[in-house]
Amino acid sequence: MNILITGASSGIGKQLALDYVAQGHQVWGQGRNAPRLQALAEQGIKPIQVELSELNQVREAFADLADLDLIVLAAGDCEYLDPQAFDAELFARVWQNNVQSMANCIDALWPNLKPHSQLALVGSLAHLLPFSQAGAYGSSKAAVDYLALALGTDLKAKQVSVHCIQPGFVKTPLTDKNSFAMPNLISPQQASRYIRRGLVKGKARINFPGVFSGILHALSCLPARWQQALCQRLANK
Ligand SMILES: NC(=O)c1ccc[n+]([C@@H]2O[C@H](COP(=O)([O-])OP(=O)(O)OC[C@H]3O[C@@H](n4cnc5c(N)ncnc54)[C@H](OP(=O)(O)O)[C@@H]3O)[C@@H](O)[C@H]2O)c1
Repeated sequence: MNILITGASSGIGKQLALDYVAQGHQVWGQGRNAPRLQALAEQGIKPIQVELSELNQVREAFADLADLDLIVLAAGDCEYLDPQAFDAELFARVWQNNVQSMANCIDALWPNLKPHSQLALVGSLAHLLPFSQAGAYGSSKAAVDYLALALGTDLKAKQVSVHCIQPGFVKTPLTDKNSFAMPNLISPQQASRYIRRGLVKGKARINFPGVFSGILHALSCLPARWQQALCQRLANK
């Protein structure tokens, strides 16, 4: 397969790129950090260095990618809101990195999407409950989930299948910044296995790990006030 992975210079995207290359696929890996991209190149991944928030740069960087079988848009970031002072600039940064940059990639790749290819957007299970300080991150990932579903509707005609990958906690530089206890923390290798298996099965939503995802989905069925009370208790712990 010909595969493009954004966010391949770190964490989940990097592990996925390494695993697909090890299986003999041709992989293009996007990132920003030059030394980390160079290290990827040494392992057989074709590096693409581009800042995804710049639409024209993304269009230029992806212009020649015409025969992709699988696209995984994994680039993203997490920042938490201070519960005492809402910060619209932080909010805009998170949405820019997690939603608008993803839209820029889709725009750039759209003319070249080919029948029977797969487009996978990386969201998060975080949007299932109203976690404290997660208003920017969780809302951006709720948007990713909706975007994947809606694109799935529209891209059926082009015979492109769309998938939303929703991880729980995965040990990466993104979560290394967290100071709270992360239940069911898994390795990037485990995350990569879940993702690759989910894509082979053609699942519209690839949620993992299973038990953690099941608990969050069950709790998300509670009345909103109960969900908020639960998340307040978690925040006070
Ligand atoms: N780790 C988790 O527990 C977890 C859980 C749920 C969902 N996710 C989601 O999974 C995805 C990957 O997360 P991760 O944990 O692997 O994070 P990570 O290790 O911090 O990697 C993030 C990647 O995204 C790239 N990136 C971010 N913003 C970018 C931008 N504006 N333009 C270009 N590249 C950009 C980074 O590039 P450079 O480093 O080269 O700058 C890096 O390659 C994210 O969407 C995250 O929200 C992660």
